Amino acid sequence: MKLAHAGMRMSHNDWTIFMNLLNETLNKFSVPSPEKNDVISLIDSLRNVIVEK
Ligand code: HEM
Repeated sequence: MKLAHAGMRMSHNDWTIFMNLLNETLNKFSVPSPEKNDVISLIDSLRNVIVEK
């Protein structure tokens, strides 16, 4: 995952925008809370591997 995103200069701001879009998407499809939280935690655990500045 690190190699796939290396050099993209992804910022914390980019990440926040992405997480908000993910949240809106899960809401749009009415994904219930436990599953929604699982997806958000799993994806957010990758933040430090993908964000590099
Ligand atoms: C701001 C957030 C993100 C952006 C802008 C982004 C952008 C990209 C781009 C442009 C590629 C293509 C790289 C290439 O073909 O050279 C890529 C690859 C990939 N991304 Fe992301 N990414 C983001 C977050 C994520 C997240 C959260 C995940 C996982 C849940 C993810 C999983 C992957 C995977 C699996 C690949 C393919 C790697 C491969 O081809 O071997 N990305 N990403």
